[in-house]
Parts: sequence; structure tokens; C-alpha cells
Amino acid sequence: MVKVLAKFKFSIVIFVVVLLGIIFISVLPAQTQQPVVLNLLMTAPDAHPWKEGIIKDFESKNPGIRINIIEGPNATNLLEDLYTSAFILGDSPYDLINMDVIWTPKFAAAGWLLDLTDKVTQSELAAFSPKDVEGGRYKGRLYRIPMRSDVGMLYYREDLLKQAGFNPPETFTDLIKISQALKQQDKINWGYIWQGRQYEGLAAMFVEVLEGFGGFWVNPNTLEVGLDRPETLKAIAFLKETIATGISPPGVTTYQEEETRRIFQSGQAIFLRSWPYVWPLANAKDSPIRGKIAIKPMVSASGENGGACLGGWGLGISKTTKHPQEAWKAIQYFTGEEAQRRFILKAGFVPSRRSLFTDPQIVATYPHYPQLLEVVEQAVLRPPIAQYAQTSDILQRYLSAALTNRMTPEAAMKAAAQETRRLLGDV
Ligand code: GLC
Repeated sequence: MVKVLAKFKFSIVIFVVVLLGIIFISVLPAQTQQPVVLNLLMTAPDAHPWKEGIIKDFESKNPGIRINIIEGPNATNLLEDLYTSAFILGDSPYDLINMDVIWTPKFAAAGWLLDLTDKVTQSELAAFSPKDVEGGRYKGRLYRIPMRSDVGMLYYREDLLKQAGFNPPETFTDLIKISQALKQQDKINWGYIWQGRQYEGLAAMFVEVLEGFGGFWVNPNTLEVGLDRPETLKAIAFLKETIATGISPPGVTTYQEEETRRIFQSGQAIFLRSWPYVWPLANAKDSPIRGKIAIKPMVSASGENGGACLGGWGLGISKTTKHPQEAWKAIQYFTGEEAQRRFILKAGFVPSRRSLFTDPQIVATYPHYPQLLEVVEQAVLRPPIAQYAQTSDILQRYLSAALTNRMTPEAAMKAAAQETRRLLGDV
């Protein structure tokens, strides 16, 4: 009996040892296995809302994957330079690529991105605004899934306009007239604030004014260049007039988005041209203009349509990533409905999924979003061509020279048009 008991105890010990061994073998590697880290570079203002919620959500649903956000400079063209030099050096340290809508043709043509065409069905893509999807294609293939859209618009001080008995402006002339009147009454320091620094934001702002005067920059189908046409000169004349008449501060030619937002938000200006990210910040609890502002599509010359520049950001995958599956998983999550809703409620960005423009939760926070869909769907794309970065650089240099009186607008635009034609192979 004692013997049987001893044998039984012995087998229990063996069983427990084996069991512990199995547990040890299966659990240990899982514990010591490092999670896959996906590196993602983005502008600093974007990084904040990303870090606030959607990254944590994704990581808790996918414990084996970590997202490492690297904060870059605010200007999109500087960010693009960082990505570009990383790709040119070979082994890009970035797995996911957070891409401005204007980068796809260049990055895709250079072969730096994975082709995502076969990963999404037509019906999945139909849930997004068509222009945002278009911004992710190159030569019929898809390289970028839209994460958020963006569109330029005119912010104005509804309170001041109402007090002075003005309707919101429809034309460039209205905008100047209202600005002058309110300035003369000492109601405000500045009339109109816009992005005038030599950088990509200048090009985005300018396509709106150009469209508003009936002009064009580069026709992407024919590569025709419109910079030396009379409409372009009218657009420059309008911007110069805002400075010459003191409606815009002389420093406006050095401002990017954030400088312009700060002036407007501190209550010093009537009008601001910017993107939707300004809305929640200008309406934050500590904002002096909270509840006093409204937005409308950009004004135009009478008889023309106002132009709204299509911006926006989307995700692509670097061709050299060692983790394409995990990167795709992340893209699916971040461009999905749930993540986008959270992101937009936090940051006031524009959705790329059409259903979110009328989503009850979103509309409760941003009542103007249903109308915004129309503006997004009619927005003007900056020319979607592989040489966009150089094309934009030419415009930025010469436009800046004209705005700061280093060249006459005529000479500047003649040179800009010629250089652009040479670049696009048409001279
Ligand atoms: C915004 C837009 C982007 C544009 C940039 C210009 O980030 O989304 O498309 O290029 O502003 O400053």
C-alpha cells in the first residue's frame, strides 16, 4: 500500500514537472519576445492627437505591435525631405509612411512604397471621399489609404460682422471692404491673415486664390502651365493689396499655419484662411474667440467659384519594411471608422470616410460637417504629378519673391512658368 502510494506521488511529481516544463516552454518565449515596432514620422501638431487615443487603442488590441511616433517639423515639405533622404539612403527606418496628399506620385514613381491595390476591394474604397482615394493612386495603382481629409476654408469673426451690420463676404472685394471698414472703426488690428511664407502652405493657399480668379497652375493631363496668364497676376495683385493696405500684417509673408492661427485666436484679426484643425482650438475653453467665429468656403472674384484646396493625410507602407503584415493591420485600424471617429472628435480634422460627415456623434460636436462634405468633394487638387515637389518649389520661390517685392509679379511669374515648363519637358 505504502509502495503504491509512493508510486502515485512519484507520478504526480513527474506530471507536475512535465506540466511546468510545457508551461515554461510555451510562455517564456512569448514573454521574452519583443513586440514588433512600427516607426512612423509625422508633423508635431499631428502627433499630439495620434498619441492621445488611437495609438493606445490599437496597441491594446494588438499586444504584439507597438507604434513609435517620431515627431518631425511642422512644414509638410520639410517632413517630405526627411522621408525622401531616408528612402534615398536605402533602408528607410520608417515602416508606415504618413503621407500628405501631394506626395503619392513622387514616392510611388520612385518605387519607395508597397502597392496596396490588391489589399482593398472597390466597395471598401467607395466608403471614402473619391478625391482622397484619387490622391493615393499613381498610374492606376493604390499606394496610400486616406486617414483624414483636409480642405482650406475662410474663418471669420461672426460677432464683429454682425455688430457692424455686414453679411459674410462673397468676393475678394467684399473681404477687403469689410476689413477696411472694421479697421477704420478701430474694432480690430488686422483684416485678413493667410500663410505667406515660402513653403508648401503658400502653394496650398495660392491655388485657392488662383481658382477664385479663374486661373490654374498646371493642368495634370496636358501639363499646360498657367502661371504667366492674367488670372495669376490678378491673384497676386489681390494678395499684395492686402499687405499694401494694411489689411494683412507685413509679417504675413513669413507665416505658416500656426503663426496665423495664433494671431486669429488671440482676437486680433477678422478673417483667416486655414484648415479645419483651427476650429476646436479656436473654440477651446481658454480661447478669447470661443463661440465668436464661423466658417465659409473661400471667397472668389465675382462670377467665379471659390476655390478650396484639398489637403489631407493617408498611410502607406515603406517597401523596405520588415513588417508589412503588421503595417497593414495598423493601416486597417487607423483608417477604419472607429479610429477615425475618435481622432476627428479629438482634433477637428476632416474625415476621409464619407459616413462620418453625418455621424451623430461628430455632428453633435461639429455641426458644420455635413456641409463640409460638399466642399471636400469639390475641392481643388494641387497638380497630381510625379514632379510635384519641384513644381511647387518653383512656385513658392517666385511667388515669395513677388509678394516681398524682390521681383515684379510679371517677371516672377514669367520665370516661374518657364522653369516649370522646362521641368515638365515642354520647352
Ligand atoms: C495641411 C494639408 C496638407 C498641406 C499642408 C500645407 O497639412 O493637409 O495637404 O500640404 O497643410 O501646409
